[in-house]
Amino acid sequence: MEMLIVEGGRPLAGELTVSGSKNSSLPIVIATMLSAQKSVLRNIPDLADTRFLLSLLNSLGVGTSVGAPNEICFDGEKITSGLAHYDVVRKMRASVLVLAPLLARLGHAKVSLPGGCAIGTRPVDIHLEGLKQLGAQLEVKEGYIHAFLPKGSFIGAEFELPLPSVGATENLIMAAVLAQGTTVLSRAAKEPEVVELCEALNAAGAQISGYKTGVITIRGVSSISGLNHTIRPDRIEAGTFIALAAATKSALRLKDVFVPDLSSVMERFSHAGVKFLHSSSASKNSLVDLDIIPPSRLRATDIETSPHPGFPTDVQAQFMAAMALAEGVSTIYERVFENRMMHVPELMRMGAHIEVHNGVARVFGQPKLSRAQVMATDIRASASLVIAALCAEGRSEIRRVYHLDRGYEALEKKLQAIGANIKRCSQEDF
Ligand code: UD1
Repeated sequence: MEMLIVEGGRPLAGELTVSGSKNSSLPIVIATMLSAQKSVLRNIPDLADTRFLLSLLNSLGVGTSVGAPNEICFDGEKITSGLAHYDVVRKMRASVLVLAPLLARLGHAKVSLPGGCAIGTRPVDIHLEGLKQLGAQLEVKEGYIHAFLPKGSFIGAEFELPLPSVGATENLIMAAVLAQGTTVLSRAAKEPEVVELCEALNAAGAQISGYKTGVITIRGVSSISGLNHTIRPDRIEAGTFIALAAATKSALRLKDVFVPDLSSVMERFSHAGVKFLHSSSASKNSLVDLDIIPPSRLRATDIETSPHPGFPTDVQAQFMAAMALAEGVSTIYERVFENRMMHVPELMRMGAHIEVHNGVARVFGQPKLSRAQVMATDIRASASLVIAALCAEGRSEIRRVYHLDRGYEALEKKLQAIGANIKRCSQEDF
């Protein structure tokens, strides 16, 4: 097992490049299965999760080949298997999104239930109920979803999601693209990753509208061409770097970010005293360079996570690491997942003063954090520990870094380039 060794308390400065979005890449890679033609996707981040997804697609019969760096070609002409095994789905919950494309292409599928995960029970009941409304017959037995389409294809229908689940919205959009008739999804998620999936599918001939409004209309088409799409920058990685700059009091520049996706994060950090400057040019697909200028001490600021356009749950842990050093007391409400505070005891090992009751954390800002040995529990929790360790004087150790590798491309290299002393070691070396 590997761990990160961080010598904190050093000033950081320079530029950081934001990789392609993990949460956009996963559904869009899976959406290539809807087409029998070749697809090409660019700016796919090289992550444990994306590599893992490619091996799942290969096991289903999809051919993949790597082109230029971060570019992958997909050949979905022949889907040869409808089975997504437990060993695969339990490691990465988003694998359950293969359910709709498998059904659309093969008429049957057997996909493992993802099961629980560290940040909550995370059921897939909304995915299943929606697919049923679109004509699938489903049965859950022995840990697997057994599904088939009695009419040979999905049938368009109206479905109101009980809550705007991102994954369920994506699964149902993929089901509806090749359905007979029109589907209307209401109370749908409108996260930027859902919008990007719809844009990538529409460019290939799908007929999806309303995807920024929460009511999505999908007119089924008989086939789509291959997808040809460049993945947008990762707004969660950008939010992580904003928290890093704020917590370490380092002026940093983020290259090529899409500012509208970051508005709730920037608004809360602005309230905490961080200034942002960005080039106003609309060139390069509206991507800009964003300068982050932190104050000498952050002001305590409250957040409440909620579906887009609210504050993203995926930046909550990193925001908390920054607030652990702010002047005053911040209140952090986690409203999306029931158990997403597992970074709290680890941050407390580093000197943070945090009290949690019923998913609400009160963070009593301290002037400093201290070095410690800590353990990562999920992707974003790991990032919060890296931020805290870079703030704490002396040497910290972060274990279970495989969580970090699921969601951050080349993080150590990026951080080393701005002056961080961070390196990876095998735990057996100690
Ligand atoms: C996606 C993101 C994840 C992010 C989350 C919320 C990917 C690969 N992952 O996860 O990083 O934190 O959105 O923005 O894009 N729920 C149900 N039943 C369901 C589905 C969801 O009760 O069938 C609940 C979940 O337990 C959770 C809430 O809905 O409490 C939101 O989950 P959801 O939006 O589905 O998250 P994911 O798509 O799994």
